[in-house]
Amino acid sequence: MVESTKVNKGFTVWFTGLSGSGKSTISCLLEKKVQERGRNVEILDDDVARTNLGQYLGFSKQDRDINIQRIAFVCKLLTRNGVACISAAISPYREARENARQEIENFVEVYVKCPLEICVERDVKGLYKKALKGEIPGFTGVSDPYEEPLNPEIIVETNKETVEESVNKILKKLDELGYLEPRTPATPVYTPDEEKKVQERLSRLGYI
Ligand SMILES: Nc1ncnc2c1ncn2[C@@H]1O[C@H](COP(=O)(O)OP(=O)(O)O)[C@@H](O)[C@H]1O
Ligand SMILES: [Mg+2]
Repeated sequence: MVESTKVNKGFTVWFTGLSGSGKSTISCLLEKKVQERGRNVEILDDDVARTNLGQYLGFSKQDRDINIQRIAFVCKLLTRNGVACISAAISPYREARENARQEIENFVEVYVKCPLEICVERDVKGLYKKALKGEIPGFTGVSDPYEEPLNPEIIVETNKETVEESVNKILKKLDELGYLEPRTPATPVYTPDEEKKVQERLSRLGYI
């Protein structure tokens, strides 16, 4: 008899927010925390996705939509196979995000909210400086639209909360939705007798 309390329900945490709002930073800590809960995690970060899935794509609305469609497709495949997925792309268009929501099971949209001035101040990649000088056309928030989510599952405000606080908000929601296994220690899968036999076998094989 297979006895398991494992849930391993696939889900996708879909971040959206301006460049420099904190999507990648929060993703990395979230990945660690979800892994600690015994899950396989994949992050689809904008830069990595563009390099591997969309190297010929630019930043027109059409190209941005294709980029999001491709990320969503990968998330869909992974999610339906029980993986915890994290998408960390600007995804500025509401409609493209809604399409992703329709495609992917257990979709959790997280609006990484941060005022443009703060993102400009942070200027993690030095891109705002160039964009404000007009050197990068079609830069989200400066010369290209960003459509805020109307009804995201979670809003994190990275100018007001720490990375840990934002991650905890997300974990709390994932717990509420039943996408993560309960935190309490699981009932042992083996009876003490079975456990002893396993130990003996491992010892015989020289593994312990
Ligand atoms: N509460 C916070 N959450 C996330 N990032 C924060 C926060 N406070 C400050 N930061 C900083 O903001 C920057 C966000 O950059 P990054 O994660 O690369 O943004 P994005 O991936 O959205 O473009 C990092 O330098 C990070 O250290
Ligand atoms: Mg990023």
